[in-house]
Amino acid sequence: MTAIKGILLAGGTGSRLYPLTSVITKQMLPVYDKPLLYYPLATLMLAGVRDILVISTPEEQPNYQRLLGDGSQLGLSLSYAVQPEPNGIAEALLIGRSFLAGSRVMLILGDNIFFGHGLQTVLHAAREQADGATVFGYWVSDPQRFGVVELDPDGRPIAITEKPAEPRSHYAVTGLYFYDHRASDLAAELKPSARGELEITDLNRSYLELGKLSVHRLQRGFAWLDAGTPDALLDAANYVATLERRQGLKIGCIEEIAWRAGWIGDGDLERLARPIKDVDYGRYLMKLLAE
Ligand code: G1P
Repeated sequence: MTAIKGILLAGGTGSRLYPLTSVITKQMLPVYDKPLLYYPLATLMLAGVRDILVISTPEEQPNYQRLLGDGSQLGLSLSYAVQPEPNGIAEALLIGRSFLAGSRVMLILGDNIFFGHGLQTVLHAAREQADGATVFGYWVSDPQRFGVVELDPDGRPIAITEKPAEPRSHYAVTGLYFYDHRASDLAAELKPSARGELEITDLNRSYLELGKLSVHRLQRGFAWLDAGTPDALLDAANYVATLERRQGLKIGCIEEIAWRAGWIGDGDLERLARPIKDVDYGRYLMKLLAE
């Protein structure tokens, strides 16, 4: 597998969720049985990415460190950095420049949940692409809320626009991005947008102009959920609860993913499960060991 590092961006104020987010940050809010942040972390792990930089606001950094530590309990290497102001997603690649040290990167937003058949295959294909950028297009009913990509009949990108008033396609660009070694350099050339942010859409456009942007369309039946509004948060929780109750299998269970990947052993999983063995989550982990 090609060397690649991960960035989990958990910045922002979560203003659309006030008063839920007046004291705790959006990415710590529950999505059914686990904090929202677990889901994008699980996506990084499913891609086989183990060296991860968590970027948050300065105020939240100690909380993330308390939640996830140095990652060794999950066979990961986690480091932390801050984004002092909400200056945009592309700034993550500048903050993470020395961490990346020229390696390729999988960047994911801390409020994006991906779930679906074949996710791991899709992620592995993207991480193996050594040159250029890969983003994911997802058909939505309200594309004007997102970055939008217009595709030609062969599925190649023609144009990419941030929150267009009149979208030319239904394909939203999800908050999951794979970039080659050029990402930090290209991000350094960006100018802030009208809303004062370094837009990830502008970085993607830089790759498009170089002829180096691939768009992978996530198929019908795939779930891409964000948790940016009270309704979206509730929808995400209901979605996870419905599937987990029906199947008795958890979504976004980072301990399970680490264990199945062989990054931690039975004894490690048991150490994580034992203190919480009387709650559903701990029972689930104990059951994995028994199976
Ligand atoms: C950001 C990006 C947008 C992308 C979205 C995915 O939007 O700017 O291009 O489609 O994340 O979640 P924001 O969260 O800043 O509204």
